[in-house]
Amino acid sequence: MKIQVKTGDPLKEKTDALVVGLFEEERPLPPLVEAIDRALQRGITDLLKAKTFKGGSGEAAVLTTQGRLPAKRVILVGLGKKDQFTIDRLRQAAGKAATTARGAGARRIASALPVLSQIDRFLPERVRAVAEGTLLALYRYLRYKTDEEAGKVDVESLTLVVPSRTALAPLRRAAREAEIIAGAVSFTRDLVSTPSSDLTPTDLAETARSLARGVRGMRVKILDRRQMERLKMGGMLGVSRGSSQPPRFIVLEYRPAGAKGKPIALVGKSVTFDSGGISIKPSAGMEQMKYDMSGGAAVLGTMKAAAALKLPLRLLGILPAVENMPSGTAYKPGDILRAMSGRTIEVVNTDAEGRLILADGLHYATRYRPRAIIDLATLTGACAVAVGNYAIAVLGTDEKLIDRVRKAGEASGERVWQLPLWEEYDQLIKSDVADCKNTGDKTAGTIVGAVFLKPFVGKHPWVHLDIASTAWVENERPYIPKGGSGVGIRLLIELLKGWGEKE
Ligand code: BES
Ligand code: MN
Ligand code: ZN
Repeated sequence: MKIQVKTGDPLKEKTDALVVGLFEEERPLPPLVEAIDRALQRGITDLLKAKTFKGGSGEAAVLTTQGRLPAKRVILVGLGKKDQFTIDRLRQAAGKAATTARGAGARRIASALPVLSQIDRFLPERVRAVAEGTLLALYRYLRYKTDEEAGKVDVESLTLVVPSRTALAPLRRAAREAEIIAGAVSFTRDLVSTPSSDLTPTDLAETARSLARGVRGMRVKILDRRQMERLKMGGMLGVSRGSSQPPRFIVLEYRPAGAKGKPIALVGKSVTFDSGGISIKPSAGMEQMKYDMSGGAAVLGTMKAAAALKLPLRLLGILPAVENMPSGTAYKPGDILRAMSGRTIEVVNTDAEGRLILADGLHYATRYRPRAIIDLATLTGACAVAVGNYAIAVLGTDEKLIDRVRKAGEASGERVWQLPLWEEYDQLIKSDVADCKNTGDKTAGTIVGAVFLKPFVGKHPWVHLDIASTAWVENERPYIPKGGSGVGIRLLIELLKGWGEKE
C-alpha cells in the first residue's frame, strides 16, 4: 500500500473515503467536522442527535457524500473522551477507519486524523501512529485462502492531509518509519500464523537465512544437531528428541558499519509446535500451539526493522528452534538434562519445554558479553491468568532496564506489567536429584518460568517478556486482526531507538 503525506484542505480531497475524527461530546464541532456537516446538510448532526454515533473509542460511521464533496464518503471515527486521549487511541481510530473504509469498498483513503485541529510538535508522532494503525489493521493472512477474500477489493493508498505551512520532511520520515515497522510486524504475523507442518525449525532457519541475505551487516549462523551436541546444549537436544523434525539453533548478528561496543542480545522461544510431548496437552485448543514460536518470530521481525531503520546498534538474534512431540524417542518426565551452562535440570513435565531451550539460548548469548539480554517467549499459560490479553508480563534482574521497557511499552502501545522475581520464589524449583526442576507447584506459574531462566543469564542485565497471552489474538482488535499479533516488535524497536552508544 502507498502512503503519502501532503498539505492542504481535506475538504478538497478527491478520494474514496475521507477520514475525520471526533472526540466524545466534542461541542462545538471542530472546524473541519463542522464544514463537512454543513456540506452534507447536517448529516453528522443527525447522527449525533440520533446517538448512532457518539464519538466513543471504537465507533465509526460512514456517510456518503452524493457529490456534495469531492470525497465519495466521509468516515467519522470516535476518538473517545478528550481527557483520556493517548497515542494508542489514535492508532486504534486509524485502524478502525481503515477496516471500515475497506468494508465500504474504498480503494483510496485520505485521512485528516493526525491533525486533531492543532499544529504542534507531536505531529510526526501522530502521523506515525495513523500510518501504523492503518497498515496494521489492513493486514490479512491469505496464504491458504484460494477463493473468497483473495480477490476482494483492498485499500491501495493512504494520503495523510496536514495543514498548510507544516514542514513535510519530518512527517514523511515518520510515515516511512511506520511502513518499515508495519512491514516487519506483517512478516512476523505471517510466520506465527503459518501451520507448524509448513514452518518447521528447518523452515524457520531458512527464513532467517534469507532475511540476512537481503541486509547489509547481517550475518547468520545455523547450528544443526551435531553442533549442538558439541556445545552440550542439553535443553535443545532433550526437547527435540521426540520429533522427526531436527532442531535448529539460529543466530543472527547485525553489525551496522561504525557500531561500536557489545551487542544487545534478543532471544526468542521458537517451538514451532508444542504438543506438550509425553506430558501431552488436551486436544482442545492444541491447534493454536503453532504460535509457540512467536518469540523467535518477533526477534526476526525486530532485526529486520532495526536494520531497515539503520539503528546504530549491534544486535544479536538468537532463536532456539524445536518441535515438542511425544514419541518412542521423546524425552520423558523424570529425565535429567544437562544444559549448556552445566546446570542439571530434572524434567518433571515435558510441557515446560520453552524454558529448557531458552536455558541454552540465554547461556549461548552470554558468550558475547552482551550489554543486555532480552528474551521473548510464549512461556506460560499462567500469563493469561496473571495479566490477561492486554499486557506483556515483564520480569528481570535490572530495574533500570525494566523501567525503560515499561516506557517503551507505553509509547508503542505494547504495554508491559511487571511481576516480582524475589528470592523467595527460588525454592519452588528446587529438585531432590538435580540443580533444579522445570516446574514449580500450582502457584505463580509465570514467575516460576522466569525464576527458572534467571541462573542462565549470569550477571548480565536481563529482562524476560512472557508474551503467551498477547501473541495470539482471538477477538479482533482495532489494529490487530485475529491470529498472530506480531507482538514485541513495536516494543523492542521503541526500546532500541532510545539506546545510547555507551549505555
Ligand atoms: N507454550 C506453552 C505456554 C502457553 C500456553 C502459551 C498457552 C500460550 C498459550 C508452554 O510451553 C507450556 O506448556 N507451559 C506450561 C508450563 C507448565 C507445565 C509448568 C503451562 O503453562 O501450562
Ligand atoms: Mn509446553
Ligand atoms: Zn511451549
